[in-house]
Amino acid sequence: MARRMRIGVLTSGGDAPGMNAAIRAVVRTALEEQFKVFGFYGGFEGLVHSNFKELDYEDVGGILQRGGTVLYTSRFPQFREEAVRRQALDVLEDLQLDGLVVIGGEGSMKGAHALSRMGVPVVGIPASIDNDVWGTDDTIGADTALNTIVRAIDRIKDTASSHHRAFVVEVMGNRSGYLALVAAIASGAEAAVIPEAPVDFQVLARELNRRAREGRTNSIVVVSEAAATAQEVMEKLRENGVDYELRATVLGHLQRGGSPTFYDRIIASHFGMQAVFALRDGQAGVMIGKQHLSYVQVPLDEVTSRRKTIPQEYLALAHTLMWEA
Ligand code: F6P
Repeated sequence: MARRMRIGVLTSGGDAPGMNAAIRAVVRTALEEQFKVFGFYGGFEGLVHSNFKELDYEDVGGILQRGGTVLYTSRFPQFREEAVRRQALDVLEDLQLDGLVVIGGEGSMKGAHALSRMGVPVVGIPASIDNDVWGTDDTIGADTALNTIVRAIDRIKDTASSHHRAFVVEVMGNRSGYLALVAAIASGAEAAVIPEAPVDFQVLARELNRRAREGRTNSIVVVSEAAATAQEVMEKLRENGVDYELRATVLGHLQRGGSPTFYDRIIASHFGMQAVFALRDGQAGVMIGKQHLSYVQVPLDEVTSRRKTIPQEYLALAHTLMWEA
């Protein structure tokens, strides 16, 4: 009988809702293909320390709807060192693995790429609430995070309008203003402070005051952590004489939790299945991406050497529907 293919899977970097759906799809597809599949616990750190378990159907039962990652995750900057990656290579060799699926964001794709350059057949799956990975329209988790942010802002608006206040809401995004801009559009906020489009605070303060004079009961400014803190934006608005009483809310890590949306479950399931098919077909050194309506393989060389920017369409939408400073 032919030897069964053996693959590994891990989640790395910040967790994202839908990672479990991707793990489940990887495991179920691998088992359907008669592969053996091993899950490494705690990302690249777990790989280096040989912390793994062979996975079966029951290990991925009941996880589709759960946020977080059952394989746990970590930030492991030591993986940038070649000597540390060599340890990972030894583990993969001992286990006689034929391939590895790495589920994570931009930094994790760099780790995947580095391993792949050392000869390991690696396939990446983009997962990050930030949606900042080159080569895919969407990353797993961004849709759920956006739904969480928009619902939070809806609630903030209730209290803001009851008190005639303006709120500065800080959202995550690492180096990208995507979450802030898209959430601002979808929640009807007045402005987004993002690194991609500088804001003139004097003009913004004037606009908020005009709204207050016109009797608008609330105003919302969404700020990306990539541009400034909520506190900094609040101080700038104060310095520029905003009449509204101001409050700041930092949404923080609640943006990363929660049950994944339908959309995140579906893309995660596709990504997981396609990643196993890629390994089966000898197509390593790639990340599975979604471009328009297709699932595609993007070389990790390209993924890690290009920087994703906010799609022009969102900037145009913001320009038309939101007031901008
Ligand atoms: O990359 C996902 C992300 O949530 C970023 O938006 C944020 O900057 C970062 O992770 C926070 O990381 P940590 O949970 O390690 O503080």
